[in-house]
Amino acid sequence: MAKVRFHDNNEYLTGQAVVDFLATQEVIYEHWGVDRLDNNLRDNYSPTEVEKQQILDAFKAEIADISARRDYKTADIIVLSDKTPNLDALLEKFKGEHHHTDDECRFCVDGHGIFAIKGKDDRYFDVEMEPGDLISVPSYYRHYFKLMDDRKIKAIRLFVTPAGWEAIY
Ligand SMILES: [Fe+2]
Repeated sequence: MAKVRFHDNNEYLTGQAVVDFLATQEVIYEHWGVDRLDNNLRDNYSPTEVEKQQILDAFKAEIADISARRDYKTADIIVLSDKTPNLDALLEKFKGEHHHTDDECRFCVDGHGIFAIKGKDDRYFDVEMEPGDLISVPSYYRHYFKLMDDRKIKAIRLFVTPAGWEAIY
């Protein structure tokens, strides 16, 4: 389950409080879990195209459901780890605050990630994602992204259009 941390007072929300708070912010949060994946599909940070497709197929029903609700048209797999060339340069870029004209929707398959989001009342908060968590940052919400201490994430990305996911700094 994801946790929320407020930047101004370092307060944490856990459990149902996360679900309730993110609903007030219109940030979609769902927990699909990863129990259905075997270990190789979870912790392999150099997945083949076949393995990527196996991950997408394992969540086919959930992907179809949220895609119908939010008009997402494509899905793919993104992997970041110490095997990623120029990981530090990429992380530096992701730390820049930006928004998109479409939702930014991510399902965490393995590892961890933090979306820092400027909320409705201009209060910044982190959503700390664990394996099995999905969030969708709404269009035009200012945000940035960080890894956690494990410095790795494997995630499903859901898109409306490639153009709508360009970062606007
Ligand atoms: Fe983004």
